[in-house]
Amino acid sequence: MLPAKSSVKINLLSKLYIGIRILMKAIAVRPGIPNSVHQRDIPMPDIQKIPDGKGILVKVLKVGVDATDREINDALYGNAPPGDDYLVLGHESFGIVQQVGPNVRNIRVGDYVTATVRRPGGSIYDKIGTYDMTSEETYYERGINLLHGYLTEYFVDHEDYIVRVPMGLKHLHVLMEPMSCAAKAIYQAFEAQRRMKVWSPKRAFVLGAGQIGLLSTLVLRLKGLEVFTLARAKGPHLKSSIVEGMEATYVPTSEVSLEQVTAKVGKADLIVDATGSSQIAFSAMQSLGHNGALVWTSITGGKNTTTVPSDKINIEWVLGNKLLLGSVNANREHFEMGIRDLALGEVMFPGFLQKILTNPVKGLDQYLEMMRLLVEDNSALKVYVDVADA
Ligand code: BGC
Ligand code: ZN
Repeated sequence: MLPAKSSVKINLLSKLYIGIRILMKAIAVRPGIPNSVHQRDIPMPDIQKIPDGKGILVKVLKVGVDATDREINDALYGNAPPGDDYLVLGHESFGIVQQVGPNVRNIRVGDYVTATVRRPGGSIYDKIGTYDMTSEETYYERGINLLHGYLTEYFVDHEDYIVRVPMGLKHLHVLMEPMSCAAKAIYQAFEAQRRMKVWSPKRAFVLGAGQIGLLSTLVLRLKGLEVFTLARAKGPHLKSSIVEGMEATYVPTSEVSLEQVTAKVGKADLIVDATGSSQIAFSAMQSLGHNGALVWTSITGGKNTTTVPSDKINIEWVLGNKLLLGSVNANREHFEMGIRDLALGEVMFPGFLQKILTNPVKGLDQYLEMMRLLVEDNSALKVYVDVADA
């Protein structure tokens, strides 16, 4: 039997309606083309596409941006997913769960969540959940490399990559991802230093007081180290007040060089570089003590070169059994570690972490302002987009 005319009409209408509904706003770039940031409509994600009934649909509330996004927009870094000529930006996610697949066990509708960034490739490291340590040259990162990001209205992912954010930390929203990177970097240093059998670091230098520098300062302070955090501008200002709020010492390198600090307080047992300057990363090698570890965390997509006193560094590193460690990204375990440290940090140094979240931008439509703050405003410690209210 043919359907009645009116029901054909309703079907058509509902298709049209769905046709409108299934598009959502996203902020993207065309990788390889400088300054190509733009807004576009992309299809709503489909929870059914996630295998095993383990899909989670997240409504995006806030997304942080950082120097990586700036480098992607400068066409220094990042690649589009195969088959697309655009890459949706955003890897620092915070949202609320809208829907869960039938086999999701640990996350419920209404939970606040963040998501890990990297997705596994094929190496043994990828297969055991340590995709941040993949041994393959090609890596997959949402919002950065070969996978679309979170700077949009909704996303779906597998339960394995969704991490619950405790209700009591929701005011720290977009700090979860950068914190996971800081937590991993320091955890890795301690792991590697088990080679020393009795390593018990006392003094740390943190180079850079951007988000990774400040969050590394927190992790090290929570471990009981004496921490000196170095950045260019003379205080007092926001960064120095956050450093001091965590009972670390802020050192302005415009007044006192790393060399001078080292001469005064001694070499460090542990150094974390988070400056974004490869020149500083290398020069830090001269401030590390015997048996110590230097961790590099900056993504430097440019082509800068630098000269180092290589004979001097070489002999000191050999005679001092020193270690240089690169640390990228973070897996689920590091997100969970980072969240625990944020919780402890809130109890130890109440109110200071929130101060990192300096520059909200209201709505995806304001993406040009988001980029402007990221590129031009040196005082903008943390830029993030308020995408929607819960
Ligand atoms: C992100 C990491 C990522 C790295 C390299 C950073 O900005 O926070 O998750 O692995 O860039 O792409
Ligand atoms: Zn980042």
